[in-house]
Amino acid sequence: MVSEPREAQVTDRVQPGHFYGAGLPYVGLEHYPGKIIAIEGTDGVGRSTQIHLLREWLEVQGYGVIETGWTRSVLMQPTIDMAKASNTLNKLTFVLLYATDFADRLEEEIIPALKAGFIVLADRYIFTALARARVRGVDRAWLRNLYGFAIAPHLVFYLKLDVDALIKRVLQSGGMDFWESGMDLKLGDDIYESFRTYQAKLLREYNSLGEEFGFRTLDARQSVDRIQKNLRNQIGAFLGANEPPASG
Ligand SMILES: Nc1ncnc2c1ncn2[C@@H]1O[C@H](COP(=O)(O)OP(=O)(O)OP(=O)(O)O)[C@@H](O)[C@H]1O
Ligand SMILES: [Mg+2]
Repeated sequence: MVSEPREAQVTDRVQPGHFYGAGLPYVGLEHYPGKIIAIEGTDGVGRSTQIHLLREWLEVQGYGVIETGWTRSVLMQPTIDMAKASNTLNKLTFVLLYATDFADRLEEEIIPALKAGFIVLADRYIFTALARARVRGVDRAWLRNLYGFAIAPHLVFYLKLDVDALIKRVLQSGGMDFWESGMDLKLGDDIYESFRTYQAKLLREYNSLGEEFGFRTLDARQSVDRIQKNLRNQIGAFLGANEPPASG
């Protein structure tokens, strides 16, 4: 009899706070008290705005908080910026640079924070990598194996905005950039067409990931205050059911 191989990839069957796959052999996460709260969504949906407000609210209550954001690893940010600026990033390099960025932040920021009982506010999580790579045709199983070293987050909120509303907001706040428009994929002749097609494809990926992983979906067209109130209610209930804030 051949025993079932242990699942080593990203699936919805992994408990929050545990590695999806084999993880890092030298890290035992079992009793780490911290929590990972991720906010996902396409570009410009209001993640930074909400995370800023959440941080203030949590800190006032006595929680230790760190923020971690996509491509913000000290090690990898300059490399990713350089690769993007050269516009010569191929598919495999693109995926591996993102994975390295995440690995670096996992070891340097996320795991130490979980150990210390902090709340990790993640501005995008691995789902962004899954969505972007899928839009670029990367093999699903390969990709999910690659991220087997990631930790399943405790809560994932998905700020959902349809493409028309997104375009309006992006135009109001500084315009479309090459990568947000998926111009590397040659989806349209001009940046506007490319942005629309690319973001619509991304949205479909996020929606399907949301169903699979049970994201808590919020309507990103609502006011900043209304969204924040909803987030605070849900996070407050979750934290209240888990443990009291660190004192002192
Ligand atoms: N609920 C909202 N309603 C209207 N405008 C909003 C809302 N939330 C944020 N904005 C505005 O939309 C713009 C993008 O917001 P923000 O920077 O928070 O988004 P983001 O998801 O972090 O974007 P990026 O993908 O560029 O990091 C900002 O100008 C912000 O003021
Ligand atoms: Mg932002």
